[in-house]
Amino acid sequence: MEISSKLLPESERKYSQIANLKSLPFGLYRTDHMFLVDFKDGEWRNPRIVPYGPIEMMPGAVSLHYGQTIFEGAKAFKHADGEIYAFRVDENAKRMNVSANLVCMQTIDENLQVEAALRLMDVDRKWCPDMPESSLYIRPFMFATEDALGIRPSLEFKYCIMLSPSGPYYAGGFNHGVRLLITDRYHRAVSGGTGASKTGGNYTASLKPGMVAKECGASQVLYLDSSNTYIEEAGAMNHFHITKDGTVVIPEFTDSILRSITSISMLELLPSLGYKVRQEKIAIKEFVEQVKSGDIIEAGGFGTAAVVSPVNEYIFDDGEIIKVGNGEIGENTRKIYEAYTAIQKGTAPDKFGWLK
Ligand code: COI
Repeated sequence: MEISSKLLPESERKYSQIANLKSLPFGLYRTDHMFLVDFKDGEWRNPRIVPYGPIEMMPGAVSLHYGQTIFEGAKAFKHADGEIYAFRVDENAKRMNVSANLVCMQTIDENLQVEAALRLMDVDRKWCPDMPESSLYIRPFMFATEDALGIRPSLEFKYCIMLSPSGPYYAGGFNHGVRLLITDRYHRAVSGGTGASKTGGNYTASLKPGMVAKECGASQVLYLDSSNTYIEEAGAMNHFHITKDGTVVIPEFTDSILRSITSISMLELLPSLGYKVRQEKIAIKEFVEQVKSGDIIEAGGFGTAAVVSPVNEYIFDDGEIIKVGNGEIGENTRKIYEAYTAIQKGTAPDKFGWLK
């Protein structure tokens, strides 16, 4: 499908807004343009790049009432050659369609998704930041636009991509380890539900627990499955831990855990760094015992926005705090973070072909 474009003249572009900033927040700035395509009468129509701005929609649009929305998150990086490279956007396009199927939305051609992201990046290339821990965050999303109040899947959708020059997801970046709240009071998703999709409702469900976590000085909840037996994920990140013998352990993907593209990348990357890596069901009781005994030496989260975020501490509902290792950022987590981000930033060879 041919993508049309209606671009702002150079004089109306606003990228100089970020030129003199020393650091960037996550997700607050927008670039000059966005990509849009509409699904109507059984087909995707009119793919276009237009100036970033409000989208007109009927008040009865299904997404506004029943939350039929999905999104993705990817990143692009400026390399020393001055070019901008997107990281694994083809995987994001695939996952977008997995999410679409899980919440009865229309799938969209993966090549079109990738081409649209690359074209938009090119149009707004001057917005790609190059300060430490920054990237051009790519946010594709789709929402139901049919003006219909019956509870049934919408027949009309809009797919959109916007870009956000962003700094680290957690203020303070990699060097600021996070604390997670372990609680049996809240759950993000249940078996048989929508937890494996990036549908908006999963993130709405995490808002209240996220506020409770903040009240405990934690960044996020470490979600357990609904029987409070196994570790699932930590909101915007998959969870991982590292054992004394240098094995990186990630919870097995289930239908209530998002299949993080960072995690699947780690399954490929870590053996080449000398780590064993495995996915399994991780019982919270044993996990806590092993953190306390020192058998688990490091822990953290994997996610596109969060990259590799070290977890230094866990706090329980009764206020008890346990440290992972000595509570400092571990050398293995640092090594993994550095190897991964070096590929993203082009300072190490792209040996897996992840960049476009
Ligand atoms: C991402 O890592 O891109 C995410 O989807 C996290 C987002 C909720 C901030």
